[in-house]
Amino acid sequence: MSAVLRHFLSVPPSMRILFLTHSFNSLAQRLYADLAADGHTLSVEFDIADPVTEEAVALFRPDLVLAPFLKRPVPVAVWQAVPCLIVHPGIVGDRGPSALDWAIQEGAEEWGVTVLQAEAALDGGPVWASAAFAMRPAAKSSLYRREVTEAASRAVRQAIARFQSGSFVPVRPGNDAPGRERPLLRQAERAIDWQHDGSAAVLAKIRAADGFPGVMSELCGVPCRLFDAHPEGDPAAYGWNANNHADVAGRALARRHGAVLVGTRDGAVWIGHARRGAGGLPCAQAAEREEGGDIRERLKLPATLAIPEALALPEASLPSVWKVATPTWQDIAYEEAGAVGFLHFDFYNGAMGPDQCRRLTEALRFAAGRPTRVIVLLGGAEFWSNGIHLNLIEAADSPADASWAAINAMDDLAEALLTCTSHLTVAALQGNVGAGGAFLARAADRVWVRDGVIANPHYKNMGNLYGSEFWTYLLPPRVGAEGARRILAHRLPMSAGEAVACGFYDAVLAGDHAAFRVDVARRAAELAENGEGDGYVAALAAKAARRAADEAAKPLAAYRAEELAEMRRNFYGFDPSYHVARYHFVTKTPHSWTPRHLARHREPEAATSLPASPAFSELPA
Ligand code: COA
Repeated sequence: MSAVLRHFLSVPPSMRILFLTHSFNSLAQRLYADLAADGHTLSVEFDIADPVTEEAVALFRPDLVLAPFLKRPVPVAVWQAVPCLIVHPGIVGDRGPSALDWAIQEGAEEWGVTVLQAEAALDGGPVWASAAFAMRPAAKSSLYRREVTEAASRAVRQAIARFQSGSFVPVRPGNDAPGRERPLLRQAERAIDWQHDGSAAVLAKIRAADGFPGVMSELCGVPCRLFDAHPEGDPAAYGWNANNHADVAGRALARRHGAVLVGTRDGAVWIGHARRGAGGLPCAQAAEREEGGDIRERLKLPATLAIPEALALPEASLPSVWKVATPTWQDIAYEEAGAVGFLHFDFYNGAMGPDQCRRLTEALRFAAGRPTRVIVLLGGAEFWSNGIHLNLIEAADSPADASWAAINAMDDLAEALLTCTSHLTVAALQGNVGAGGAFLARAADRVWVRDGVIANPHYKNMGNLYGSEFWTYLLPPRVGAEGARRILAHRLPMSAGEAVACGFYDAVLAGDHAAFRVDVARRAAELAENGEGDGYVAALAAKAARRAADEAAKPLAAYRAEELAEMRRNFYGFDPSYHVARYHFVTKTPHSWTPRHLARHREPEAATSLPASPAFSELPA
């Protein structure tokens, strides 16, 4: 929007905002998408070293620095020169590095996000805005990606509006502020006392430490960190009872799809993921790898893979994919409402290994065999899918072979979705999508996106992967060949609105999770009734005819073979970029520079004439 138009519409002038952040994580991506949509000129610098930050400020000359995710203070020279707004995941007055961890572990009913100005005292500056939310019994990473992100989006926009008003004076929290300074939450306070902690306490402790640093404990006698805990609604079915609880507490009882069931004083909990050993931080781990240590001890993995000793446990198989009334942990579940079948798949971090792809393909075939009309693939609440499971690949004896197996399983799933002519299919994105997951969703007939979802439909950040999931078949009809090239080359996140505006996805629905699901169910029921308006039967027939015509023009097998030929080069070829990028991603190697597509201030014209951050649709071809 031009400066004249902004003035005419009484829109505050666009600002130059520098994101200073430890990484471009989901929260930073969401705020970036919000502020770009508001017409601001944005650039990103990773917090690597004080002189680098100072240089970024000198190059970009921002009106404001925004710090969505920092692990250390803003350099003094920077906050003294430019107003710096820190996004703190805590209520007003709360300070310290373990804000959410304490809130979860201590069972806070309400929590919040505060946007405060950087000063000498960490998290101690005056407050520009804050937003509250009700706590949910969920993992820290889940709260962070949902409630914290939504609250931060509201609070940051309010803080910026107040900053632009020129009249707002930020308020320093007084002694009556609801929060207080809390120290780092240490493993000693996180420790589970299996003889005394009931399931609720065990869940709270593991959830407060998810996805980092996990809770140090043992599984099958092996020291490890625990992540990804879920309640078991019927522990008696797995050997726990009121008489044996003292013997059973802390003992592994059963396994299911990589997770391990552990008894507690009053029941049992599923542990989905673990990291073997009592080792230290990823940085130190990277150094250990140089010395030839076992990479598997440095990765968060499905519990039975991290602790193979657990494979001796009895398999607690599920009778079917149906979601049953007794709640037990299951990563894939199916339920029906009238003519619509809903397929839930909640894979940790949205990462999909061959086993998950195969089971999801089976579940899809099951759903397609039901006397319904529409299948809705709901994914999980935080992620719909982030593509192939990179940790599993890194842990394999041959990462190249494991990559090949993973992408083939993913393509089998995409193909099953594409060739499902018995039903209309909908990918309903409650949570974010990345890389192959973003294209897998496109294999459904419709893609409906929750407002607030961030999509990263590109593979390039993972060592220039070519990508598969039939993107070469799926994209051109919707966005044109040039649009497809631009989507793949665009390495920035897309908001739900941008993804729909450029034709990649089909509709943006409500932003609230519960309202989204209601909206999806209503629209899916309409689709089952009316199809495109000509009735369901006509819509299904048109779909089958389209597929047959496409197949005659060029078989899916040909698209797949062409894409996989490129992927084979990525996995087995001379260029090791993908293996190097994957290693750095899974071991969380600290950044040593900010990628150029983010650090726009390092473009030659940055100090003077950078345009507002363009929406994807406005990018030059
Ligand atoms: N495999 C394994 N783990 C994955 C993953 C994948 N494909 N994608 C994300 N994760 C994990 C991250 O390691 C992180 O783990 P943590 O629990 O230890 O923190 C967690 O999921 C969240 O990821 P993060 O990067 O913090 O989330 P984000 O929302 O900020 O970013 C993406 C989302 C998609 C941009 C980013 O996760 C990404 O680039 N993932 C890799 C996608 C990919 O290249 N897939 C392979 C090609 S198909």
